[in-house]
Amino acid sequence: SYNRRMLIKKAPDIRSSEITPKSVYLRRREFIQASAAALVAAGFPSMANPAEAQGGGLAKLPNVQKSPLSTNETPSLYEHITSYNNFYEFAPGAGDGPKNNSKNFKPRPWKIKIDGLVGKPGEYDIDDFIKPYTLEERVYRFRCVEAWSFVIPWVGIPMAEVIKRVEPQPKAKYVEMTTLQDTGRFPMQRTDLLPWPYIEGLRLDEAQHPLTLLAVGVYGEVLPAQNGAPIRLIVPWKYGFKGVKSIVRIRFVENQPRNTWQIMAPSEYGFYANVNPNVDHPRWSQAREKRLPSFVPNRKTEMFNGYTEQVASMYKDLDLRKNF
Ligand code: MTE
Repeated sequence: SYNRRMLIKKAPDIRSSEITPKSVYLRRREFIQASAAALVAAGFPSMANPAEAQGGGLAKLPNVQKSPLSTNETPSLYEHITSYNNFYEFAPGAGDGPKNNSKNFKPRPWKIKIDGLVGKPGEYDIDDFIKPYTLEERVYRFRCVEAWSFVIPWVGIPMAEVIKRVEPQPKAKYVEMTTLQDTGRFPMQRTDLLPWPYIEGLRLDEAQHPLTLLAVGVYGEVLPAQNGAPIRLIVPWKYGFKGVKSIVRIRFVENQPRNTWQIMAPSEYGFYANVNPNVDHPRWSQAREKRLPSFVPNRKTEMFNGYTEQVASMYKDLDLRKNF
């Protein structure tokens, strides 16, 4: 339709908007002042880990183990991680729209279906789904395709353990993950902004990689709605759009699934979406990134977002320029 054509042209432009939401800008001033105060009050070591005393007053997750797979970079502030989001089911574009439009979101009841080419398909209540696993805190770098970045202390379960439990069949080569379709809970699904529901995919070996996480929390608490409650995907060496939020289905398939942004703009977003400073997005450079709360590029982007040692071998036979 006419509308849809307009949106296909427009949506990526909205996403790449460089406009600083006023609320984030204002908090940046507070952040600088608060940091200075903390520095004076408690000395330098407290600045190295603002993870203590961070959170949003949501339910604490029990028995969270710290993971050796964490980066020792300083985590971004909770306030920033939860106020600058991308979640089209709540609001188009990046910023504080998802936070403002998700205040009444209820992440229960919630079911997750496992199906496709697996020995043990099933449908679980979210709490039963998570129960068998030990929750881990993984502090990961997070790099969005539009070049902003964070360091985020996710809490989650390794996807590899979930996959082992459901026993994929030999024919399963990919995993497809789908967001809930519910216009009552996700207001923007009443529009044709994206082809709903949001879908993402990984190759089975990527999904089984020890770094791949199904996150259920951040800063030791359950996920706030805007970050993908109650469960979302985190693949730290890929651009942020691979991290499908509010998942209800994990399907094992033989053929490469098409993901939402690939469907919207195939020349701009590929299946792999590995962070790669040497392959630019058609409309902007990927060489540098903006570590929030900075809104100017203030860091070089690293190959595979700094996870080369752990993941490069998976792509040794792949032309990363073609398979972007
Ligand atoms: N998942 C759904 N269902 N809908 C979305 O719009 N946006 C993606 C990804 N997952 C999106 C989504 C994009 S583009 C990014 S960068 C990350 O979520 C942002 O995650 P964050 O808000 O927790 O930083």
